[in-house]
Amino acid sequence: MLKAAVIGTGMAGHELGLQLQQRADVAVVGAVDVNLSVAARFCERFGGRAFASVGAMVRDAAPDLVAVASTNSAHADNVIEAVEAGVQNVFCEKPLAIDLEDAARMVAVVEAAGVRTSLGFSGLEPGMVRATEIVSSGRLGRILHAQVQLFRGYGFWGQERINRRGVRSHHAAVMHPQESGGWTIHHACHMFFILTRMLGPARSVFGRLASSTLAAPSEELVTATLQFENDASGALLDSIGSFRGLELIVIGTSGTMCFRDDLKKNAQSIAELTLHMEGADQPDTERFPYKARGRTRLLELVDAILQKCPSPITFKEAMDNLLICAAVRQSSDLGLPVELANSNAAVCTHNSGRAAPHPCFSGDCAENRLETAHLPSLGRGCGIKTLRWGADEQRA
Ligand SMILES: NC(=O)c1ccc[n+]([C@@H]2O[C@H](COP(=O)([O-])OP(=O)(O)OC[C@H]3O[C@@H](n4cnc5c(N)ncnc54)[C@H](O)[C@@H]3O)[C@@H](O)[C@H]2O)c1
Repeated sequence: MLKAAVIGTGMAGHELGLQLQQRADVAVVGAVDVNLSVAARFCERFGGRAFASVGAMVRDAAPDLVAVASTNSAHADNVIEAVEAGVQNVFCEKPLAIDLEDAARMVAVVEAAGVRTSLGFSGLEPGMVRATEIVSSGRLGRILHAQVQLFRGYGFWGQERINRRGVRSHHAAVMHPQESGGWTIHHACHMFFILTRMLGPARSVFGRLASSTLAAPSEELVTATLQFENDASGALLDSIGSFRGLELIVIGTSGTMCFRDDLKKNAQSIAELTLHMEGADQPDTERFPYKARGRTRLLELVDAILQKCPSPITFKEAMDNLLICAAVRQSSDLGLPVELANSNAAVCTHNSGRAAPHPCFSGDCAENRLETAHLPSLGRGCGIKTLRWGADEQRA
């Protein structure tokens, strides 16, 4: 029986509990949350004991696997404490961390201790798995371009949800970028992960971030164009607003693939993949009915542990993902494309400022308006080199 514990037992922690509950070969032995009563509620439902600290939980419950679903800014300390206490298998919700210094510390600790890892990036939905298989099989020939649009459908002003005070409000990840890392790191990370899994490492990015109001603490719309090391180009649009849905288009020298998912996640949900090969009269379309409890990154890691397989996703890969997100932010700040340095390169300490949320968002501001854009810079240790255009000096 594999012993598992969950750190951070909010919404995502409960989802991980439900996943672990499906498995007869896994027992939940412990849970940790800064709010102990929340961890206790989790344990009433999924088993194990609630603890106030990671160290105490690892000492007393001795889990084989720890799943971290705390606030993004807490991932680094939670993971490091668990590994230093002796945990050998760690699942961490995305993003790995909210800055590259924390990410580098996490990579160093798990690599030194030989820990098996994975992260909660999307990509295991049946249609997306099929799309990834088609690209990797070489069926589309040499890939020239991939582009993805992801609309969260939440609304800039929370049309999907009304907060505890009964008012429409920005998403928590937008309201509290100092905890979430901002929308690029919190959400666009999913699609950068899918693009790099399909096309390999990115070489450079040009990003442009925008918000529904200049006073928003975080960007709410992310656009990026990418150049991959294999010379393919990529484009991404991720918006918290608009209708809900995803579209991925990959163009190769032998054919074009288009995958669309309305992300409704119910029996009526439509996910379909269309493949149009060069020279074919008609495209082929495959449909993917929604499966309520499908394969997940956490259960993939459980299987890797039981079968003694390597990490499904390494922390190094997750750090490269964070590097892309930080580069998009830096590119948008500079108005210039940025080149990506490999995350093995020395981490620099550029750009350490973290802005507090504007008073508009604490209700103290009469006017929901600011004179200048106010996007917090979270790419602390950036490891990024800015491209120079012609004789222009770098505008840092
Ligand atoms: N993979 C996905 O699709 C997906 C979806 C939603 C959320 N997430 C991720 O899951 C994580 C949690 O998100 P959520 O929506 O459940 O948020 P949440 O606010 O509902 O839950 C976070 C929990 O972590 C606890 N916490 C905060 N700091 C802590 C610390 N230092 N130690 C222990 N517990 C701490 C909070 O008390 C809270 O109970 C985030 O990293 C988020 O990015 C992933």
